[in-house]
Amino acid sequence: MKFDPHEIIPSPYVGREQAYIKHLLLDGYLERLLYIVGWSASKLGHEEIIFVDCFAGPWKDESDDLASTSIAISMNLLSMVQYALEKVDKSVKFRAVYVEKDDGAFGRLSQFLASHSPANVKTAAIHGDFTRSIPDILARCPPKSFAFFFIDPKGWMAVKPDILQPLLERPRSEFLINFMYDFINRAASMNALRDDIAALLGGQLDAEKIPSNPAQREQFLLERYRSALADRVSTANAKALSGYVTILDPTVDRTKYHLIYLTRHPKGIIEFMKQSEKLAGVQSAVRNAAKYNKQTQADKTGDLFGIDAGQMEPSWNESNARIHELQQLWLARIGDQNLLVTEPVFANLICQSNCFPSELQLALRGLIERGEVQNVTAGPKLRPKNVVDYEKGETLTRTVPR
Ligand SMILES: C[S@@+](CC[C@H](N)C(=O)[O-])C[C@H]1O[C@@H](n2cnc3c(N)ncnc32)[C@H](O)[C@@H]1O
Repeated sequence: MKFDPHEIIPSPYVGREQAYIKHLLLDGYLERLLYIVGWSASKLGHEEIIFVDCFAGPWKDESDDLASTSIAISMNLLSMVQYALEKVDKSVKFRAVYVEKDDGAFGRLSQFLASHSPANVKTAAIHGDFTRSIPDILARCPPKSFAFFFIDPKGWMAVKPDILQPLLERPRSEFLINFMYDFINRAASMNALRDDIAALLGGQLDAEKIPSNPAQREQFLLERYRSALADRVSTANAKALSGYVTILDPTVDRTKYHLIYLTRHPKGIIEFMKQSEKLAGVQSAVRNAAKYNKQTQADKTGDLFGIDAGQMEPSWNESNARIHELQQLWLARIGDQNLLVTEPVFANLICQSNCFPSELQLALRGLIERGEVQNVTAGPKLRPKNVVDYEKGETLTRTVPR
């Protein structure tokens, strides 16, 4: 499933363009993950790789091939990557587990699995409520399997950290969780839902502390949730790393949801943010097309107020402020000592700022060009993109007195 600029919005996604961006991200990241984890599976002792779709659907796709669902997308990918790895003598067992509560949707899911499951991927379906199925899900993920949990409900009650805890604690696991900000934001103002929102954000919550400024409020709610998740994923030996992608409403300039990614592996976060960077331009093109479609529709019906024509592209000033902020982050991290930039260090900076890897490199380039920082390992020659090679490990030092 790749973005085709000639068909900006594929027809199954018209009217639910946010699902298209979500699926492009799932597809792009899952492919990288399967290759990376599959390649080193035997070295890392993973006996198999399992994709768990905790709220599988099918949802809003009436076709027989379910092409615009996470079910078909994941199944096709698992099969493709399994064959590709086998060809290079890296054979790994791949499995998929799909959970669905609704009777009708489950019927279609079972039928689809029976008729479409690839020969090289074992698939299974669980008919039931996700929350109550967690013990069953865990029983299907033996200790030596690597599991990727896709948690994409319709609402937000099921993603409370306490509910997810048994999954979050599981070693050899990664998560992609839909944080339904649009709903959560509204619920956060309702007295009747105060305890549920507090539980979502990890415990006690003083409602007075939730900012009223929309941008600050979004940041506050999202960060509280991310940190509640991270607390449960971190172990004494491995700290949780998380990043997120903001999926905007297709035609109105506000957040629909955030897709939060959680891992204990530095490479995971870097790869995830690389995929999300690729999507930034696509999301913008898709939203412009969706706005155009809505405008055309509004013109036909004479509704001139049906469209919010504003843009959410960062302005030149905002981009500059962002780079400045990342430069401060680099300087603080380098501090008084030399800094050996390894993959974990680079991943940690991404996690702290939720920036794209290229933004972090760009910010560092500015510091080196201004003579404030030097890449001691690389010497004076500045590489165009890979300003610091974190895979090899390179040392940075400050060259201007602080
Ligand atoms: C947003 S849709 C999933 C979309 C799907 N992940 C995709 O990307 O194509 C949510 C699905 O979860 C199912 N569902 C809702 N509550 C559930 C629960 N408590 N347990 C399991 N499934 C549930 C709904 O019937 C629906 O099919």
